[in-house]
Formats: sequence, C-alpha cells, structure tokens
Amino acid sequence: MRKLIAGNWKMNGLQAELADIAAIADAVSAHLGVDTALCVPATLIQTAATRFASMAIGGQDCHMAVSGAHTGCVSAEMLADAGAKLTIVGHSERRAAQGESDADIRGKALAAKRAGIGAIVCVGETEAERDAGQAEAIVLGQLAGSLPDEAASNWLSVAYEPVWAIGTGRIPSVEDVAAMHAAIRGALVARFGEDGAAIRILYGGSMNGENAASLLAIANVDGGLIGGASLKAEKFLPIVQAAA
Ligand code: G3P
Repeated sequence: MRKLIAGNWKMNGLQAELADIAAIADAVSAHLGVDTALCVPATLIQTAATRFASMAIGGQDCHMAVSGAHTGCVSAEMLADAGAKLTIVGHSERRAAQGESDADIRGKALAAKRAGIGAIVCVGETEAERDAGQAEAIVLGQLAGSLPDEAASNWLSVAYEPVWAIGTGRIPSVEDVAAMHAAIRGALVARFGEDGAAIRILYGGSMNGENAASLLAIANVDGGLIGGASLKAEKFLPIVQAAA
C-alpha cells in the first residue's frame, strides 16, 4: 500500500511561515512514491493550496453542517473551496479541549465526504487507559463510534495516536504499535470487508526522522501523522524518505 505522510501544524503558522511550507513542498516533490499532505491552519489553506502542488494541503477540523449559525466554525465545503484536499477530524486535542464525541467526529467525517475531500479520523488512548489495560478496548470503541458506515479507502484514513505519545518524545514499543494496528485492521475488515484492508492506518505521536523507519516497517502502519517534526523541511523530509 502507498504510504501517506501527513503533517499536522496544529495552531502554528503565520503568513511568515509560508516560506517553511514552500521548503517542505520542495523537499517532498522528489518523493513521488509517497503520498504527502500538510494540514495547516485554516488561514493558510488557500494560499498554500494555490502555491504548492507537490503535496495535498489539508485542514485540521471541520463542522458537520454545510453552513449556518455556527460562529467561528469552518465547514468541510469551505475547506474544499479554499483548496483543501483533506481534513483531520477527531484529533485527541479536540476530543479533550472541545469535548468532541465519537458521534461528532462521525458527522465531521461524513461532512468531509459530502464536500469531496478526504478525512483522517484520529483515535488513541490516554496513558491512564493504557496503564489500566484498556488501550485496545478504548481505541476500538472510538473507531466503531467515529467511523461512518460509508467509510471507504478512497476518502478515509485512520490515525492511531496514543495521547501520551503526542509531543512527549515517547513512543510505544514496536510490539504495542503492531498489536494496536493489527486490532484496528481487524475491526476495519470485519466492518468494511475487503475495502477495510485498504483503509490506511497512520501512526502518530512523536514520530521523527530517527524512529520513522522502524515505525513505518511495522505491519499495518501505512503512514504517519506528524506534529512537531512537520514544521520544518529538514525534520519532515527524513520521515518522507523513510516511507519511500
Ligand atoms: O496529529 C499529530 C500529532 O498529534 C503528533 O504530534 O508532535 O507528537 O508528532 P507530535
């Protein structure tokens, strides 16, 4: 399966950082065997999508409605209109800080499909849940609730991001990543049949140029969702190279 390396800039990036996006776009342009994407703040989508064609530009969230009285929100149609090709939905930072439920995330994923863009649906356990031996049950529960019945490999990917690995420099063992991705794959195939085997499962959480090769070599790790190491070309490029 072709791997997808997607950057998540989170709430980082002013106009001044368009130079960094340009450098990233330039760096990834030589790696045609890997799908690449950069999910930037909404304010940068249109400019980035217009200027840089070597990678997909994405959003980080969308509202589930097309339009209406939702002050401050951005619809999937607006993302598409600005040139986004995909959006992240259900990131753990939004699940925690904005109280997003699995049902909310399912609606947002469907909104992305409706707007004709891709969705990366995030799932992941907290450290306390892992310590309590509940990691797999939590993740499979989030997956069941967050994926719509319409999920298909041509528009949707899953990102497994253990909350305790995000921005901490800590990553799960190879065995734990393998076990979780195998469990997710099993659930996808059970629910979506043959196409469930083609839905990409990304790993996210402190992936960097040093650990990317070993993480991306694990069965059912079909790419990465990268936070901190996606902000600069010199950090993002080695991850893309490891996926090639
Ligand atoms: O969505 C990607 C993110 O949560 C991982 O962040 O900084 O640990 O790579 P980071």
